[in-house]
Amino acid sequence: GLPTRVRIHEVGARDGLQNEKTALPTEVKAEFVHRLARAGLTTIEATSFVHPKWVPQLADAEALFPLLQDIEGVHLPVLVPNERGLDRALALGATRIAVFASATESFAKANLNRTVAESLAMFEPVVARAKEAGAQVRGYLSMCFGDPWEGPVPVHQVVAVATALRDMGCDELSLGDTIGVATPGHVQALLARLNEEGVPTHTIGVHFHDTYGQALANTLAALQHGVTTVDASAGGLGGCPYAKSATGNLATEDLVWMLHGLGIETGVDLGRLTATSAWMAGHLGRPSPSRTVRALVPE
Ligand code: HMG
Ligand code: MG
Repeated sequence: GLPTRVRIHEVGARDGLQNEKTALPTEVKAEFVHRLARAGLTTIEATSFVHPKWVPQLADAEALFPLLQDIEGVHLPVLVPNERGLDRALALGATRIAVFASATESFAKANLNRTVAESLAMFEPVVARAKEAGAQVRGYLSMCFGDPWEGPVPVHQVVAVATALRDMGCDELSLGDTIGVATPGHVQALLARLNEEGVPTHTIGVHFHDTYGQALANTLAALQHGVTTVDASAGGLGGCPYAKSATGNLATEDLVWMLHGLGIETGVDLGRLTATSAWMAGHLGRPSPSRTVRALVPE
């Protein structure tokens, strides 16, 4: 059966804004996160402590993160690729961090300037030190289904990196369909294989991009398998600057519409959320790609 409650891991302020042509003012980002919190989201990925030249859109992490500290009862995870990033995040009091690995060599190189093995070696001390500092660690795993350079990704490649992240001490994995090519049967087959390899479903979240319009179907397949953590991006913002053909994430509104329709609790106030995405669309100068936002917010 389906779960009674789903935890939404909101990525709009990170995955969404990292992909915008221009960087928004820090105050607008801070207001975005505050509005998302007021809409009832309780895990809001705030920013990334990556190299500012690699992702200039998020180069203001040091200025932004302190502006979020008055938000109560909300986890604010941040991405860190290496120890330099971890130092920056811990110095500001971050208590949830995420490393981000790739199931393919091509994307590891494009996104991290490393081989898969080198990037895992880079993450190892990050995860160990983060846990020593009492932080919770999420391990993203990109290109779990298909890769723009390599095509379909064999399940054994995903399993190898997923088990390495687990063995390193990641509390949770997020399976990324970075370019949005997954279909529901593939999702369930991967989840089943990971379970066989000793990665329990309750430690797995799913992260779908909606390139081929499959993100909701894939999410439902994951829920049927027992997954209860779903990544989504307000208004369907998102992509990855280092992956050709990555488009927006599953829109949080589309997810909430489906979950509430199924009687699954999220804690999210859909009206406040769509109003937030419409407000953000105004700042970005184009309409939200979310079907639910378009349906609920008058032009
Ligand atoms: P590199 O060029 O190999 O870096 O980049 P390096 O280790 O050789 O260091 C070079 C210089 O950068 C050094 O400075 C470092 O101190 C500095 P120098 O000594 O030359 O003056 N440096 C830093 N400065 C600030 N913060 C840091 C940092 N690290 C090094 N953290 C690196 C390697 C990993 C840094 C780079 O490739 C990088 O920042 N990549 C991030 C790319 C990224 O953020 N991609 C998007 C997120 S992933 C995603 O979107 C997928 C996801 O959504 C899931 C899915 O959809 O699949 C999560
Ligand atoms: Mg992503």
